[in-house]
Amino acid sequence: MPSNPANVCFHVRPGGALKGRLRVPGDKSISHRSIMLGAIAEGVTRISGFLEGEDSLATLNAFRAMGVAIEGPEAGKVTVQGVGLHGLKAPSGPLDLGNSGTSMRLLSGLLAGQQFDVELIGDYSLMGRPMRRVTEPLAAMGAQIGTTPQGTAPLRITGGRGLKAIDYPMPVASAQVKSCLLLAGLYADGRTCVTEPAPTRDHTERMLQGMGYAVDVNGATRCLESGGNLHAVNIDVPADISSAAFFLVGASIAPGSDLLLEHVGINPTRTGVIKILRLMGADIELLNGREIGGEPVADLRVRSAKLHGIDIPLEQVPLAIDEFPALFIAAACAEGRTILTGAEELRVKESDRIQVMADGLRALGVKAEATPDGMIIDGGSIGGGHVDSQGDHRIAMSFAMAALRAAGPIRIDDCANVDTSFPGFVQHAATVGLGIDHGVPVITIDGPSGSGKGTVSRLVAQQLGFHFLDSGALYRILALAAHQRDIGLDDEAALADLCRSLDIRFPAAVEQEQVLLEGQDVSDQIRSEAAGAGASRVAALPKVRQALLERQRDFRIAPGLVADGRDMGTVVFPDAEAKIFLTASAEERAKRRCKQLKEKGMDLVYSDVLADIAARDERDSSRAVAPLRPAADAELLDTTNLDIEAAVAAARRLIKKYLNR
Ligand code: DC
Repeated sequence: MPSNPANVCFHVRPGGALKGRLRVPGDKSISHRSIMLGAIAEGVTRISGFLEGEDSLATLNAFRAMGVAIEGPEAGKVTVQGVGLHGLKAPSGPLDLGNSGTSMRLLSGLLAGQQFDVELIGDYSLMGRPMRRVTEPLAAMGAQIGTTPQGTAPLRITGGRGLKAIDYPMPVASAQVKSCLLLAGLYADGRTCVTEPAPTRDHTERMLQGMGYAVDVNGATRCLESGGNLHAVNIDVPADISSAAFFLVGASIAPGSDLLLEHVGINPTRTGVIKILRLMGADIELLNGREIGGEPVADLRVRSAKLHGIDIPLEQVPLAIDEFPALFIAAACAEGRTILTGAEELRVKESDRIQVMADGLRALGVKAEATPDGMIIDGGSIGGGHVDSQGDHRIAMSFAMAALRAAGPIRIDDCANVDTSFPGFVQHAATVGLGIDHGVPVITIDGPSGSGKGTVSRLVAQQLGFHFLDSGALYRILALAAHQRDIGLDDEAALADLCRSLDIRFPAAVEQEQVLLEGQDVSDQIRSEAAGAGASRVAALPKVRQALLERQRDFRIAPGLVADGRDMGTVVFPDAEAKIFLTASAEERAKRRCKQLKEKGMDLVYSDVLADIAARDERDSSRAVAPLRPAADAELLDTTNLDIEAAVAAARRLIKKYLNR
């Protein structure tokens, strides 16, 4: 059902401000390490905030293949049953690490000291990346690792080799090489030391220390002794400062912004972006500083500020290398000239970030000049237009933020990769106020039952030729399926699993209301009072709502979607183009319900129905998860005195304000 990923593009409306609070996805480097070190620790490591991207999942699957029991990930939660330093088992085949260089380089060190043979492979691109930088020093420790003649994977590691501790001055500054050798050092005879020519990310050292394993830090040298043990801890993975960076820039440049970015990792090897933005005049406060699993964490409050151009200090460049696409947007909005030098590495990232950013900025009318190792940007106004991200996720997200100060809408092409590094970016950004969507329009129609939303939504969808999502039906189907399988309506975990696995289809035209569950027509069954009551119970369970979230978003397919429910505009499609909240007085809704029941041959007392509706309203609007309430940007439509035809016409008029339909 999801649209072709190759065609993912962002449409961003100009203007707006970023407000509220946001927790961006977990740090990738720390997510990898939490699995690796959790696996070889003694005891159970409970991870939350885990980044569910392909790379960290490759690490997770590798350890599962080596006999480590790992539950999850589910909504960022993973439980790792540590097997201790010597408890890993030989996998039954090669370990496929996908596209993840971090997994391959760190695992080569960790696995060089095991008793079993293992082969590391990856996708086409990973198999072409240089591995000698790790295999050579590992060979100096006595490891036996076969590579291709070019020094690339597959890496064939022979087990049972006793490793010797070494003292290694790294020729290039690389956190992956340093981490690889420290992990090998856990299995070597004595004290392994690594010296780095320039500071690199120190997440491995910090997590080792956080798990009670001593690492001596002395200037640029890190040493550890073998023979210790790691002790499991709970790790709430800090939010990735590289993902937070887009919002630091967005809130800084958009007038009226005030945004709290929660639980962000502020490891000093990563905070160049904060330093550079502050030098440009940004208003960023670090609140509630704390330490999690050895890593410093804080909530970042960022308010809009008048920025000015600067010469970016050379020593900050390596500490902000991934954040330059976002920083270039800040520079484009700053007064005066910003000059970056010493950043030639940007040319060999996921794209040539100097050239691609310069091209994109110029397409939006910004004066930007690419130089061999940086960029010169004269701040001023930003126009609307069309930018090609060249498949580079950070470039796509950076230009999305530029729209906050643009004179017209910005369309960004080739954005599919955003979801790997920042799952849910569009929804997160829309929730805090960015006018972003995928170009497939969604109209949300929320409201209490009896407001007429089901009928109005179907008719609107039919008239526009849009798809239709009856989200209430999903909750009803779940209740029915649970009943059929004897799953208790309070068994949250089992219900959430069931949500993910059910085969649900709406095969017919919108007006036919046909629903198939596992191929069976359940259209009538789900409309029973029992299914309705069951739906109301399962709808109150947070894990069920979470599990249904992606399934509901999958309905967003061209040419458009009308989504009917309770939380369509607030939670499921916060970036919807048009949002309507239908209401009607409780008395009118009770009257409609009595009439409906009478048609079904049931005669109920009006006052009972009214009392029931009032109680349901109270329950729905006061529940903790996704309570029934209009989105801040929803149009209210009271249908108390409207018949269906008039209600549909009124809804169409409201939609027309936002969509040319
Ligand atoms: O709209 P309906 O009566 O078919 O909904 C069935 C139940 O599901 C109802 O109790 C409300 C709940 N629901 C919800 O919580 N969120 C939605 N988006 C849709 C329905």
